[in-house]
Amino acid sequence: MSLTPDLAARASHPHAITDPKRVPAQRYYSADFAQLEKEKLWQHVWQVACRLEDLPETGDYIEYEINDQSILVVRESDSRIKAYHNACRHRATALGNGAGTFHGRQIVCPYHGWRWDLNGENTYVYAAQRGFTPACLDKDNLRLREVQVDSWGGMVFVNMDAEAPPLEQYLEGIAKVLDPIAFERMRVRWWRHVILPCNWKMAQEAFLEAYHVMQAHPSLAMGAADDDYNVDSLASNFECFEGGHAHSRPPTSSEVPVKGMSWADYFIQFNNALYFGTDAFTTEREMFIQQGLLEKDIPDDEFPAKFFEALYTYAQGAGIPLPPPATETTGYGHIFPNLTFLPGYGNNIIYRSRPNGDDPESCIFEVWAVQIPGADAGEPERPVLEGPIPVEEWPQIFREDFQNVIGQQKGVHGSGIDDLIMSEHYEAMIINNHLTIDRYLSGD
Ligand code: FES
Ligand SMILES: [Fe+2]
Repeated sequence: MSLTPDLAARASHPHAITDPKRVPAQRYYSADFAQLEKEKLWQHVWQVACRLEDLPETGDYIEYEINDQSILVVRESDSRIKAYHNACRHRATALGNGAGTFHGRQIVCPYHGWRWDLNGENTYVYAAQRGFTPACLDKDNLRLREVQVDSWGGMVFVNMDAEAPPLEQYLEGIAKVLDPIAFERMRVRWWRHVILPCNWKMAQEAFLEAYHVMQAHPSLAMGAADDDYNVDSLASNFECFEGGHAHSRPPTSSEVPVKGMSWADYFIQFNNALYFGTDAFTTEREMFIQQGLLEKDIPDDEFPAKFFEALYTYAQGAGIPLPPPATETTGYGHIFPNLTFLPGYGNNIIYRSRPNGDDPESCIFEVWAVQIPGADAGEPERPVLEGPIPVEEWPQIFREDFQNVIGQQKGVHGSGIDDLIMSEHYEAMIINNHLTIDRYLSGD
């Protein structure tokens, strides 16, 4: 899609983008803007509520919160998930908190004991005949209020707008390029979160471009700078979709990103930096395979190819159903408005950023490290959210990113700062996200 539509003409709300290369600073701290997002974006957009593996058994539930909304996602049967506003139909008490199980397939309100089955139908009202008129007891009126729900790639999406088009349509384009990565085969290795003192978009944007790697992550750039480091190898050549989703295509050049380094040295150091700096993209599994290759005499420029060969051989032996290598996508992708994927080798790291209540300058930022398990992994445990983990306790690469966005949130308040300058080459995913937010806010 073009990143330069007729923006000025449809800028019908405050702080709208009129030039895609300039993002108004107020979008990151204005309470009015956050309120608009609350009403016109979050109430109408598909968003990831949880992972399918959060609900392994019938009756399992998890609560998803966005702004002041609480939604209960419930496994109704082996094949069906439901989502409800987390509010009793009597006097609106929340029916579940965090995660748990509705035993006996009954959702029971803790206040006066009204009950529902997992399908949302009311099954019991205490002292119904004595206490309530027949109109109050109308069956449809007593049903739990539903929220649209569907799943893709092992994740459960919800949408509070009953009129919103189906998820399949919403993900058109992006699902096709991300499907070969086989997200649905992946299971959670860990799931952690941090509360960051910055806008939800700002936190996310640190993971929507790689332009910052040269300065912010010297371990990934091997200390190289300027013309010695070609960051385009990590994320550029973006494909942006109308729905706000985007991904970066594989690099067009086969040059080593750091001038003067061999492919073997770059590849090994990059893996090491990711393993120690994130414990997500590169995991023990790949370090083990890499270690095995280091003991062999492999020509420098063949090292990456030999690594992938060894990975597939290992996967076959260990019963890890790795999909064939994805040729059309690096897996570095974004699902509008707040989910980002970074690729590994049969692994992925998934980020979700969302407002923390109604505060435009606080966000809940979560990281899932997921991986395709081997045949001997057994049934995975139901994932448990760790944290909030203080910034200083995260592995190095996350820390570097989090510290930058904290500093950025401070800077956007500067009275001389009207806008943030964007590169259409490196920051296209960010621009596309803002333009799509504006479409929601303008009611397009
Ligand atoms: S508020 Fe739920 S039963 Fe009364
Ligand atoms: Fe980063």
